[in-house]
Amino acid sequence: MASRLALSRHAPAVLRSLKRPVAPVFARAYATAGVGDSALSNARRQQQQLSHADPAADSGSATLVGQHAPYMVATYARPPPVFVRGAGSYLYDVDDRAYLDLTAGIAVTALGHCDPEFTALLAEQAATLVHASNLYYNPWTGALSKLLVDRTRASGGMHDAARVFVCNSGSEANEAAIKFARKVGKVLDPAGAKTHVVSFTNAFHGRTMGALSATHNPKYQLPFAPMVPGFRQGTYNDVAAIDALVTDQTCAVLVEPIQGEGGVQTASEAFLVALARRARAVGAVLIYDEIQCGLGRTGQLWAHGHLPREAHPDILSTAKALGNGFPIGAVIVNDAVADKIVVGDHGTTFGGNPLACRLAHHMVTKLSDPALHADVRAKSDIFRAGLAKIRERFPDLVKEIRGKGLILGLQMTEDPTPVIKAARERGLLVITAGTNTLRFVPSLKISEEEIGIGLGILEEAIAATRK
Ligand SMILES: Cc1ncc(COP(=O)(O)O)c(C=O)c1O
Repeated sequence: MASRLALSRHAPAVLRSLKRPVAPVFARAYATAGVGDSALSNARRQQQQLSHADPAADSGSATLVGQHAPYMVATYARPPPVFVRGAGSYLYDVDDRAYLDLTAGIAVTALGHCDPEFTALLAEQAATLVHASNLYYNPWTGALSKLLVDRTRASGGMHDAARVFVCNSGSEANEAAIKFARKVGKVLDPAGAKTHVVSFTNAFHGRTMGALSATHNPKYQLPFAPMVPGFRQGTYNDVAAIDALVTDQTCAVLVEPIQGEGGVQTASEAFLVALARRARAVGAVLIYDEIQCGLGRTGQLWAHGHLPREAHPDILSTAKALGNGFPIGAVIVNDAVADKIVVGDHGTTFGGNPLACRLAHHMVTKLSDPALHADVRAKSDIFRAGLAKIRERFPDLVKEIRGKGLILGLQMTEDPTPVIKAARERGLLVITAGTNTLRFVPSLKISEEEIGIGLGILEEAIAATRK
């Protein structure tokens, strides 16, 4: 009864007619795959044994997708379940089946789905003031900026954090960072030769043209070439190559202290220290992209927080967990950068609106709590110990365990796509990264019990794909 009520409360009207005919798009997919009646019923029999079998081609979910998908630009390949609500570490599909979510909306819902305090603040601020534009002051853009600066300085990271620019996403945060660095380059060299932006192999900085130009992955770049001029690629963690790579022409060095999309790869301290020294020697702005790895995920506020001061960035970009799912991004800059930006240099209509900023203020308050960080480190140990057991059981498949805190990766020797499907059909959501890496970026509030359940399902899913 409760689940029916929950469904009707959250589901769009179209979900109430779940017994529609097979959606044409799904029917076509089955027909072209040559799946006959008996194969279909065999598949269905097997699926019935799974607690979370992917919705069948004649299910309500498939009907809904079939009605909607033709109107959506096909930028994502999505699995069949349709999620209608979330709570803590769980997502619920149209049939009210609970899926344990180790993806947290790609490292976003750090406090869990629909955290009650967060939701209450959202409702209150939505009823007070959502948007008045950057033409006017409001109480929350400045309060968030001050909090980010104060908590960053207190955390042991970026000691000279001074000011903040607020925008709407990770890509936009990196766009702002790149533009600010280009402006610094113009001020330092008015002749205009200081324009190069250096970034690294396997980096992911976003999909807008500037952020994409720093994401040297042919799969993402080639369909949209030519890229913005002046972007250079170096090899992640290659200390010896830094001097030749970062030159007097470099205005920005952009790097993730831990690469998320790139396969949960960690920059060595020696690499970041050498990069920072070289950037300072040539007058380049050092930008740390902590959009995925920042805000408590590594068990400290910022992933670079343990580094010596000399390796702190001039600009720090953040997004994802900053809004727990509400869109927001930001760059924190030091005075050497802020001094060179003047009124009119950059702007955004929505960025810094009072609703997003009030929510982010709440998030930064929660995610900068040292008790939460200690908890993340403890959960990380439990998670890693469980992954180590899985590695012991499947030594041919699991090559390496990587990452820190609750950004963890399992390097597999083959494509993990079948494991992801097998896990989903048992009620567990996981994602990939890099090449054949399983990535775990759960809510930072995930319980020890939930970690145990998740790893149990993962082990079962791997076993099922090895039969
Ligand atoms: C490290 C990093 N930078 C930038 C981005 C882009 O952020 P967004 O998708 O919010 O534009 C991402 C997104 O995955 C990311 O992981």
